Amino acid sequence: MADIPWTWLGIRASGITTWGLLTAVVLWGILLKTQTLGRVASPMRLLDLHRWLGAVAIGFLLVHMALLLIDPAVHFTALQILIPGVAPWKTLAVALGTIAFWLLIPVTFLGRLRAKMGLVGNRWFKRSHLIAYAAWPFATAHYVLAGTDALAEWSLAMLFAGAALIVLALLARGFVPAPGPVRPITEKGSQPLTSA
Ligand code: HEM
Repeated sequence: MADIPWTWLGIRASGITTWGLLTAVVLWGILLKTQTLGRVASPMRLLDLHRWLGAVAIGFLLVHMALLLIDPAVHFTALQILIPGVAPWKTLAVALGTIAFWLLIPVTFLGRLRAKMGLVGNRWFKRSHLIAYAAWPFATAHYVLAGTDALAEWSLAMLFAGAALIVLALLARGFVPAPGPVRPITEKGSQPLTSA
C-alpha cells in the first residue's frame, strides 16, 4: 500500500465518484420530465439538485484529469488527455473518457450563457443536453475498459444498479410505448383498429 502513489488512488477515486455523480445527474434529469416522484420532490428541487450534481461531477472530472497529468506512473500530456486516440496507454478506453468529457462541455458553458442568449440560448441549451446525455454510455464504457477493478463484484453491482435505475427512469419517462389497445379478433384474424 505504501508503494502505491497517492495520485493513482486519487485518479481511481475521482473517476468512480465522477461516474456515480454523472449517473445521478442523468437520473435526476430524466425524473425532472416525469411526475414519478410526485410530491416527494418538486420540479424546482429536482432542477436544483440536477444542476448541483452536474457542477460537482464536472469538478471531480477535472480533478481526475489533472491528477493524470501529475501521476508519476502514467505520464500523460495535456494533448493525450484532450485528444481522443492519442494516449499511448489503453488508447481506446482512454479515448472513450475523453469523448465523454467533450460531450459534457457544451452543456456546461451554455448553462452559464443561456440567460444572456435569449431564445437562441434556450434552443442550443436543449440541444446540448441531448449531447450531454450521450456522455453517460461513453463514460460507462470508459470505466469498464479502463477501471482496474471494473469487473470486481462491488463494481459490477454499482454498474448494474446505475444502469437499471436509468432504464427504469426512461421507462417512467415514456420512451417505451405503453401497450396499445387490444385488437378485436374476427373470423379473418386480427383487424387494424380504425380511429373513431
Ligand atoms: C465523464 C468522464 C469520465 C468518467 C466518469 C471517468 C471515470 C473513470 C473511472 C470510474 C475509472 C476507473 C478507476 C479505477 O481504476 O477503478 C477511470 C479510470 C481512468 N480514466 Fe477516467 N473518467 C472520465 C474521463 C476521463 C478522461 C477525460 C480521461 C483522460 C484521458 C480519463 C482517463 C482515465 C485513465 C487513464 C484511467 C485509468 C486510471 C488507472 O487505473 O490508472 N478519464 N475513469
